[in-house]
Amino acid sequence: MFYPAIRKVLFQFDAETIHELTIKGLKSTGKSPLNVFYKQQVQDKPVTVMGINFPNPVGLAAGLDKNGECINAFAAMGFGFVEVGTITPRPQPGNDKPRIFRLPSANAVINRMGFNNKGVDYLVSQVQAANFKGVLGINIGKNKDTPDENAKDDYIHCMRKVYDLATYITVNISSPNTPGLRSLQYGDALDELLSALKAEQGILTEKYGKYIPLAVKIAPDLNEEEVKSIAKSLIDNGIDGVIATNTTLSREGVEGLEFGDEQGGLSGQPVKEKSTLVIKLLSEALDNKLPIIGVGGIASSDDANEKLQAGASLVQVYTGFIYQGPPLVKEIVNGL
Ligand SMILES: Cc1cc2nc3c(=O)[nH]c(=O)nc-3n(C[C@H](O)[C@H](O)[C@H](O)COP(=O)(O)O)c2cc1C
Repeated sequence: MFYPAIRKVLFQFDAETIHELTIKGLKSTGKSPLNVFYKQQVQDKPVTVMGINFPNPVGLAAGLDKNGECINAFAAMGFGFVEVGTITPRPQPGNDKPRIFRLPSANAVINRMGFNNKGVDYLVSQVQAANFKGVLGINIGKNKDTPDENAKDDYIHCMRKVYDLATYITVNISSPNTPGLRSLQYGDALDELLSALKAEQGILTEKYGKYIPLAVKIAPDLNEEEVKSIAKSLIDNGIDGVIATNTTLSREGVEGLEFGDEQGGLSGQPVKEKSTLVIKLLSEALDNKLPIIGVGGIASSDDANEKLQAGASLVQVYTGFIYQGPPLVKEIVNGL
């Protein structure tokens, strides 16, 4: 494929400008014959996780298609599942630009986007228009100006809106770019949130006559005790899956590099070991009671296999995909 040549051109421009242009291009070609430029045949490697049948275990991680505008395009690239979002109840602009930085020598990205998105109603319209028949995760969050004590209302609002359209729903409590969000990962705040969402899942199961699994996405910046406590809370509240991990606040591996001290979440190679360690700890603590989706620094089939060996049942990619494009999906699936 010619992605390395395309990347050389793309990387001449500011990261967010390229992101927006790419999304526009993918949005307009996803279902048209022009998708031939990125469409590829990927082997079937079926797995069943959370009661869902996945054609292969490699997914697109949340944040690339925040508004669900390019679902068919990403599916054409061979992803076994596509996760859209994070979406919030109301549209919001996110943080000031620039807010995304490439660190090519570290195969990394730092971002402080801050859940810029067009709101859940827009996402719903996009998902309906896509009419996608594959596995679709919808990742939900809270608006920045919603007080922490009302966070649960934002998640429930989004859950109600997307329940009938999602194959699974991800509860994002681990973005470092929404003040206060990560505090939902601890103690009573976590239990209260998860029990409310579980109750809502029960109501929506009755209403729509189908059970849509709930996955919780956690941070890599957690110690062993914190991981154990989260695992207990996930089990106690009957949560269906856990996604590990989001970006890190650590700057290990990028010290001294251009943009290395920008604020935000660091992703790509520097988060790989941290995320694998959280998966290992989770796997021990969960004792197979719920599945793990591994994400963080996957840039090859070896990296993906490492996550599976650590205890994950599925994997997702984001930063590796930015650097390597669609060929990465095929390479990973072939090497599993
Ligand atoms: C620019 C950017 C935006 C992101 N936005 C989101 C988001 O909206 N929601 C979310 O759950 N994760 C988001 N993430 C985190 C990724 O989904 C993933 O968990 C993290 O980057 C680690 O994987 P990676 O090393 O393969 O990128 C974002 C990551 C990047 C680089």
